[in-house]
Amino acid sequence: MENNRKKLIAGNWKMNKLSSEIGDYVNSLCKLIPTDSETILCVNHVSLENALALTRDTKIEISAQDVSKNMHGAYTGEVSAEMLSDIGVKYCLVGHSERRSYHSESDLDVNIKIKRLLSVGISPIICIGESLELRQKGEAISYTNSQVKTVLEGLSPNELEKCLIAYEPIWAIGTGISATNEEAEEMCREIREYISVLYSKEVAEKILILYGGSMNTKNCEDLLKMENIDGGLIGGASLKTEDFSKIILSAIREQK
Ligand code: PGA
Repeated sequence: MENNRKKLIAGNWKMNKLSSEIGDYVNSLCKLIPTDSETILCVNHVSLENALALTRDTKIEISAQDVSKNMHGAYTGEVSAEMLSDIGVKYCLVGHSERRSYHSESDLDVNIKIKRLLSVGISPIICIGESLELRQKGEAISYTNSQVKTVLEGLSPNELEKCLIAYEPIWAIGTGISATNEEAEEMCREIREYISVLYSKEVAEKILILYGGSMNTKNCEDLLKMENIDGGLIGGASLKTEDFSKIILSAIREQK
């Protein structure tokens, strides 16, 4: 490996698992991975406190899956960045394609959410990625560049260093059709390159860029060995500890 970045695996449970199921999951996962392996689990809002308590003595970090773009007030049903930080959450997904397509979230919304999170010390895991249509038109790179520009607008280099990026092509999410390692590498490299244009090479070299979209026990090794892929955001394959642990172990091997 030619860089000093770690390889990080995050599991995105989406709207799966009950709070009462987390204890068994964490016990099982901890038996399957080294005690010092840093991993993130993105859990639903009502399970956050329980998940935080159950992982307190582990290296597993708990992430929320979304945050309100509003600070506080009359926004029934929403959860603010301050509320997440108050219970000890350290990470939060923003701009997941499911939020974008089912809740019409725009890059501008994502930018506001990122700023809310950073203002209370939570690291955003920023999801970007193109549709199949854009890819087929040859516009994947220009599209993700425009996403990067808008979602990072107004962030200082110091703030950017607290963020993670997840490149998740929409056509690969939950479809079983992953990007090939070359396709994913090309996109992650381009995103890094563009960040170096917007910020500096130094900042771009530090930021972790994860790949997400049907990463599983079979393709993880090929994807994780790529220079610009610093880990994975895993949906379906994070639901069973047997599979998720194999992906984590693969990332540990590639880090060496
Ligand atoms: P998937 O989901 O691994 O099930 O494709 C990834 C994600 O949506 O973050």
